[in-house]
Amino acid sequence: MARKKVSVIGAGNVGATCAHWIATRELADVVLVDIVEGLPQGKALDLMESAPVMKFDLSITGSNTYEATAGSDVVVITAGVPRRKDPVTGKYPSRDELVKTNQKIVGEVARNVAQHSPNAILIIVSNPLDAMCHVALQESGFPSARVIGQAGALDTARYKAFIAMELGISVRDVHGIVLGGHGDQMVPLPRHTSIAGIPVRELMAEDTLQAIIQRTRKGGGEIVGLIGVSAWYAPAAGTVEMVEAIIRDQKRIIPSAVLLNGEYGYNDLYIGVPAVLGENGVEKVIEMELNEEEKGMLQISAEAVKSVVDILGY
Ligand code: APR
Repeated sequence: MARKKVSVIGAGNVGATCAHWIATRELADVVLVDIVEGLPQGKALDLMESAPVMKFDLSITGSNTYEATAGSDVVVITAGVPRRKDPVTGKYPSRDELVKTNQKIVGEVARNVAQHSPNAILIIVSNPLDAMCHVALQESGFPSARVIGQAGALDTARYKAFIAMELGISVRDVHGIVLGGHGDQMVPLPRHTSIAGIPVRELMAEDTLQAIIQRTRKGGGEIVGLIGVSAWYAPAAGTVEMVEAIIRDQKRIIPSAVLLNGEYGYNDLYIGVPAVLGENGVEKVIEMELNEEEKGMLQISAEAVKSVVDILGY
């Protein structure tokens, strides 16, 4: 069987780490693309030079154009600019300015990707995540089953890591899920969280659990506060979990940003929900039964997403 091909657009911190983990798991050949000359080529070469030691047997190449991405099975989009101070004016861009800037970048990337890989499945990582999914959907012209956002995989990983650290038990035994948009209004679901099947509330005091929920919601900001830029290991890990589910047709249930068409009562809005991921992209959206409080939290999160999507002007 021919080897699979994954292109990663944006060879920055998240993109390069995705390439690294795709390689060490031997999921597919990787093409890294970036606008900065030399950057994707250099990182690809560095990774290839690690192959004899790490023992992966595939090709990783870098490019500043899209020809090399042709015929990709999966394309991960991490291109964008982070929220950083303007070196000249010393001011931060407003949220709207940042959304517009990344809309332009992700739009251009999606058009190029669609032209060269018309059958690819897109995984969007660029922020603001849920809005950038709308941009990729619009500009690629792909069906929504093939345009998926990475958010819940990361948010759920953070939530599980904090629970495992608090209880001093293996992360392997923590099960849980985080729904909603990829922002401070995300919706961790303690009622659906268990430790090897034991409801988390039997093992953890409510105030500790609530503190973990708040820490999860602000997980991105915690890392920015520590290192000054946004995280890359956990975001890349969440992304590669999705890449693997698709490339290996695993039918995994991974919380993902998916275009809802009536599910959970929302229409035409990308929101994080449990989705079955396989070779066709989103193969099914799982509709969980939520209580009134959970529905209310999802509503607040959806409104926050909608307010950013409105800036796009589609
Ligand atoms: N085409 C290709 N690459 C681009 C483009 C473009 N039009 N515009 C910017 N890039 C590249 C940059 O040159 C940079 O190398 O995207 C890369 C982004 O990398 P980083 O700045 O290191 O950002 P990173 O931490 O990887 O985050 C990428 O993922 O988690 C999100 O919020 C994060 O939106 C951000 C994205």
